[in-house]
Amino acid sequence: MRIIEFESAERLHEIVAQEIIKRVQNNPQLVLGLATGSTPIGVYKKLVEDHKKNGTSYKQVTTFNLDEYVGLAKDHPQSYHAFMQEYLFNHIDIPSHQTHIPNGLASDLEKECQQYEKMIQQAGGIDLQILGIGLNGHIGFNEPGTPFSSETHVVELTESTRNANSRFFASIDEVPTHAITMGLNTIMQSKEIFLLITGSQKAEIFRRLMEEDVSEDLPASILKRHPQAFVYVDEEAASLLSS
Ligand code: F6R
Repeated sequence: MRIIEFESAERLHEIVAQEIIKRVQNNPQLVLGLATGSTPIGVYKKLVEDHKKNGTSYKQVTTFNLDEYVGLAKDHPQSYHAFMQEYLFNHIDIPSHQTHIPNGLASDLEKECQQYEKMIQQAGGIDLQILGIGLNGHIGFNEPGTPFSSETHVVELTESTRNANSRFFASIDEVPTHAITMGLNTIMQSKEIFLLITGSQKAEIFRRLMEEDVSEDLPASILKRHPQAFVYVDEEAASLLSS
């Protein structure tokens, strides 16, 4: 796991976007793993700007999102489907059938998870996975205690995650209790991984990630075992470690 520190989130967004664009240019059929949440929004904005200005094409790119809430329709404003449309897919030339997000309304959720896993494999695996990190160290919706061997599965969200995400809903009662998420093993199969960590709120979890051993209590710590995992961190998130 390599750490790359930036003086600002803005600069981090710029460089991460450039790295993604480079990979799309080198491999137009790139399989890209995507995350939602606040952290990658700045990166998606840069990708959209570049697409409009320089015409980088996503016509042959395939995407797989990490996760989706159970029980929200695709057009629910807080669904991850709606998020991806709003921040990325509506603004670039990717065909919608090449974008994949777990279906949280599937009648058989177990089957949906198995099929999602299979689709990733059939696409040849994920070339580059983008990740954010939760305050408790989760990646995707893999909460502390999730087995490192996990594949795409249904999870019950912890109180801390539902609280953190309630800022997007009218009240905490409206935050779904379950989600579908790629598992930690699914994520680890990606050829390359970029974990983005920005803002002072994430300083404590970044400190823990740096100082603690690899353990299922800190899901993101598994990335230390990945040969091509890069942590992009801004100065604020790195503030508890600066010596
Ligand atoms: C999102 C996801 C989550 C978030 C994490 C951080 O698809 O899987 O793990 O990356 O909760 O969220 P933000 O970026 O909102 O702090």
